[in-house]
Amino acid sequence: MPPGRSNPRNLLGIESIPRADLEHLLDRGRHYKALPRNTKLNTLAGRLVVNLFFEPSTRTRTSFEIAAKRLGADAIGIHSQTTSLSKGESLVDTLNTLSAMNPDAIVMRHSASGAPHFLARFLSTPMINAGDGRHEHPTQALLDALTILEVKGSLDGLRVAIIGDISHSRVARSNIHLLAKFGAHIAACGPATTVPRNLPELAPGVSLTYDMREAVRDADVIMMLRVQLERQNVEVFPKNEYFRYYGLTLEHVALARPDAIVLHPGPINRGREISSEVADSQRSMILSQVENGVAIRMAVLEWVCSTGEDE
Ligand code: CP
Repeated sequence: MPPGRSNPRNLLGIESIPRADLEHLLDRGRHYKALPRNTKLNTLAGRLVVNLFFEPSTRTRTSFEIAAKRLGADAIGIHSQTTSLSKGESLVDTLNTLSAMNPDAIVMRHSASGAPHFLARFLSTPMINAGDGRHEHPTQALLDALTILEVKGSLDGLRVAIIGDISHSRVARSNIHLLAKFGAHIAACGPATTVPRNLPELAPGVSLTYDMREAVRDADVIMMLRVQLERQNVEVFPKNEYFRYYGLTLEHVALARPDAIVLHPGPINRGREISSEVADSQRSMILSQVENGVAIRMAVLEWVCSTGEDE
């Protein structure tokens, strides 16, 4: 490991983070959300955050950059097409090269599950996982939790239906870990070819169903997932029939609790996973999720850039 912090604090996944640390991050996210709009702080003045994205992103990449700048840090974005990987450099060498320029955090999205975990073993720079393959998307789960908490007050005992292409979804996996740690009941639902049968072993409080009406009945929260066409090597369901069986309509929402809310991590595919009537309804928290992404990523950057001794 090159010189730097001998034991950097990483955010690689929700599974490995104790509940107390998640509560801290949610508290700090709430704190940042409550500040006047576009407040500029100097919490991370003089620090440098590198955003390294090997997959497309609108929400995550932009909100990490905004979060870094609101905390007073410098932020640079690197797109995979413009790196020396195309000249044969390995991913480890690319990351070590960036780390040698002494950034204070590297935010990385990669298509390979486990890529940030592997790289973090070699780096003295704190690493934040901005989504690795189908494995985890920890900041998405945190911003989803903040969004639910703002409306519901607590996650304990909530009935959350997670619906869609679960086996390819890092959003589902991170949310299941987080929601289970906080005592929510999760009904995972999707086509049989996309719902791993061993999902209940992942965390307590998880049940499976292939029937969307059963999943949404009496739900407090309906969390829709994007169909991950880019991760499907074979056709795991007929795409033109997907909406008929697993697309969220107003009729489904009517089966949930009267105060149920609808989440979707985005980007949404209208008419595939969700109808426009639901996406644009009062029940939809989709734009609140986006807004909360900035506050949560401020909390996460602050957390990984602190030593742990100053808390
Ligand atoms: N939810 C999410 O990760 O969106 P982006 O791919 O736009 O970052």
